Amino acid sequence: MHNKLCTCWNCPAINLAGKVDFRACGQSAKDLKEKMGLQDSFQIMAECKRRPELGLYDPMSITFEECPEWRESPFGYLLKDMRVMILGIDGYLGWTLALWLGNRGLQVSGVDNYNRRIWVKERGAHTVVPISRMSERLQAAKEVLNIDINFREIDIANERERLKEFIDEVKPEAIIHYAECPSAPFSMIDADHAIYVQKNNVLGTLGLLFIMRDIVPESSLLKLGTMGEYGTPLTGRPLFEGMFPSDAILKWGDREWSLGGELTPRDPPSFYHASKVQDTFNIAEACKYWWLRSHDIMQGVIYGVHTDQVAADPRLRTRFDIDEWFGTVINRLVAQAIIGIPLTLYGTGEQIRGFIALEDAMQCMTRLIAHPPEPGQYAVANQISGYYSLRELAITIAKIGKEEFNLPVKIQRIENPRVESERHPFEPIFENLPKRFGFVPCVRLEEEVYRTYKLLIQPEIRRRIEEKKHHIIPKTWWSGEKRRVETLEIFEIEEEINRSNERLEHSRR
Ligand SMILES: NC(=O)c1ccc[n+]([C@@H]2O[C@H](COP(=O)([O-])OP(=O)(O)OC[C@H]3O[C@@H](n4cnc5c(N)ncnc54)[C@H](O)[C@@H]3O)[C@@H](O)[C@H]2O)c1
Repeated sequence: MHNKLCTCWNCPAINLAGKVDFRACGQSAKDLKEKMGLQDSFQIMAECKRRPELGLYDPMSITFEECPEWRESPFGYLLKDMRVMILGIDGYLGWTLALWLGNRGLQVSGVDNYNRRIWVKERGAHTVVPISRMSERLQAAKEVLNIDINFREIDIANERERLKEFIDEVKPEAIIHYAECPSAPFSMIDADHAIYVQKNNVLGTLGLLFIMRDIVPESSLLKLGTMGEYGTPLTGRPLFEGMFPSDAILKWGDREWSLGGELTPRDPPSFYHASKVQDTFNIAEACKYWWLRSHDIMQGVIYGVHTDQVAADPRLRTRFDIDEWFGTVINRLVAQAIIGIPLTLYGTGEQIRGFIALEDAMQCMTRLIAHPPEPGQYAVANQISGYYSLRELAITIAKIGKEEFNLPVKIQRIENPRVESERHPFEPIFENLPKRFGFVPCVRLEEEVYRTYKLLIQPEIRRRIEEKKHHIIPKTWWSGEKRRVETLEIFEIEEEINRSNERLEHSRR
């Protein structure tokens, strides 16, 4: 078990503010002793909120393995009836995680203001997998999976007092923060959209940090960043997990400095990604000032539709978008294959990105919830299970469409409306989740693509894709131009497979 040697020091159920104002960080133990009239034998003590009979004790003295409140699970020791609050619970990931965690006995509460439904409607698009209203979702979760979810409609960026009240009422032991606008193209439509996305994302998160400081400083924050924060540095420098490793060195002239522990440079490719970078700094600061603890999760692009819980009943399905603003690439390509639109590659299509299947992402989140950082620790994990060029992905998706579903799939290159490198080195480091938290990917790309085809090919969903097919080819240019992109080239997949073999051959020479 990856977390068996964690101690009460990591546990959100202790009260470090017992006899010591633990949040007075930056003060020396000597200052604290003087201020609080403590004796020479002063040390940090904890009180357990779940086992008050322990009185004051040394938080390092009990491990998760020894504590009866932590129970073994396939994801590590999990705190019994752990209270988790999901911000953005109505979204693609939030809803999936709520059912996933509820099904494993965690006490789930959640917040959403339906922003995502509003944004998608504003663009004239819709989720092609129909989703129920929240009241129906909650009822179905109870009926089908026997999960009670405590939901509150709150705008986290604009209703801080209400969010504070709800957090105070629930006292979550982990807060999973998905409640941001997740779209790069949406943030690039015009000034109004860029400003809106940055306000919603950056200010919502900043307000949350203050609430956590005041109400639940011992809870862990699991905040979703994105691999896109790093950009794709043309130097080929590895994309470390948030910070430089301890042996990284900056060399300039004849001098050298250690870079170990410093945040790595960021190069966000849109105003959306820039909002995530600002979050990164705000969270790292809050951990430093107030000893909050956070996993900042640099998530790759998520794909797929399946967990056992969302598949248990049509009312429990999660959303699935395929339009240019909100669809993620694999999900979009499968939808295109189903209705006969040649799969769209932007520019050369040689961009490389990190990916992870929906179900594997849920596994990662559970492992991180089970392993809270230490007080003051700002921890980063690059959450991907592999990386591919977009061409490779298109070929895989086309082959499955052709061989398994008899679809006549073609691939097209279109003008690239984004400003990004189309050929670049890419070396993401993604070791923390497997090595420190025991993550083992369980879903193969081909398997999840197959499951996605199976769902989307159903007549009702296919019809919903057809209805919104005019939103598939992008019109949102980073330059501000307002026109549909043009097709540069269309090819059959056999041709593309040959080309890719040729490229491989060429690179070997
Ligand atoms: N889906 C991906 O591929 C992916 C990849 C990397 C990072 N992420 C990040 O993961 C998180 C979740 O992504 P998702 O795909 O589930 O997006 P989503 O849009 O489906 O979910 C976000 C949810 O948050 C809610 N929300 C937004 N602003 C809010 C506010 N001010 N108050 C209350 N609720 C609000 C939305 O209504 C929505 O239900 C986002 O932060 C996103 O940036 C997603």
